[in-house]
Amino acid sequence: MNFISDNAYGASPEILAAMTGAAAGTAISYGDDELTARLTAKLCELFEREVAVFPVVTGTAANSLILSALCPPYGAVVCHAKSHIAVDECGAPEFFTGGAKLALVNAPDGKLVPGQIDEALTHFWGGVHAMKPSVVSITQATEMGAVYRPEEVAALAERTHARGMTLHMDGARFANALATLKCTPAQITWKAGVDALSFGATKNGAVMAEAAIFFDPAKAGDFGRRRKRGGHLVSKMRFISAQLLAYLENGLWLANAARANATAARLAEGLAKVPGVTLAHPAEANAVFAWMPASLAKTLHDAGARFYDWETAPDGRVMARLVCSFATPETDVAKFLGVAAGR
Ligand SMILES: Cc1ncc(COP(=O)(O)O)c(C=O)c1O
Repeated sequence: MNFISDNAYGASPEILAAMTGAAAGTAISYGDDELTARLTAKLCELFEREVAVFPVVTGTAANSLILSALCPPYGAVVCHAKSHIAVDECGAPEFFTGGAKLALVNAPDGKLVPGQIDEALTHFWGGVHAMKPSVVSITQATEMGAVYRPEEVAALAERTHARGMTLHMDGARFANALATLKCTPAQITWKAGVDALSFGATKNGAVMAEAAIFFDPAKAGDFGRRRKRGGHLVSKMRFISAQLLAYLENGLWLANAARANATAARLAEGLAKVPGVTLAHPAEANAVFAWMPASLAKTLHDAGARFYDWETAPDGRVMARLVCSFATPETDVAKFLGVAAGR
């Protein structure tokens, strides 16, 4: 019963097979290979426009290198106070931007609303004395398991662009969001005003494969050099590109995400029926956050369930974070709910 993270599970056989396939013969190094060219063409087709694509191996690299391209060292990035870039990247966004400031806001379910952009920048009015408002960064699906609708992204983008800023989307769980939304990748990104996307695959079936995507290739600037300088220009890039191609081909990415989301939905539905348990956030993607008595959390841990006690309330209740993946066994959900229900 492992609900610690979607990273806990392995990789899809199709992706492993594609890596094996990429091992045959020879190829040009550092991304000038045929698979990387095919990947770029595939992503242009998927997003219905020319995009600039830069494969990397971690989401932290995609996020912080994109921010470095969009934000000057004296810039401000508006983001959620509990976003991955704010609390889980060891200051990489500040490091790669050369000193940008994160302007933090709190928002229910991790979803920013347009008014919060202005709120976060209230004190950034002092001309040369203040950080320059530069980027708004949102996470799709959010760190709390919720999903932005296209109209919500569009409203944020409108405010962002009106302030002369750019909009970044951390899509570590982009496929999970898309599987819920059932819209096109274009509709939830550039058509809604997103300028750059961290396109994640590792959590949803890849071994290690992410991509930084710029919807206006001109906005990528010197990204190639930034990636090299950041240690993310992988010499055998074809192995990352092979993973991403296999991920996208035949709809594997959305099938994996739909399965993870359905498993999380079953878990959320079952937990909501357990006396004393309430959902802390809507389970719209593949993560479930549930408040429960500390005694129940302990019973579940003792029964072998692995999950994070994410927060503790003043009254002692625990917020459990339970993440499902493309490979979480249904039997684990049934067993977990059985223990929760005292069976
Ligand atoms: C919202 C979010 N963004 C980005 C990442 C990527 O992180 P990593 O650098 O571990 O690949 C994660 C992983 O936990 C995440 O949850």
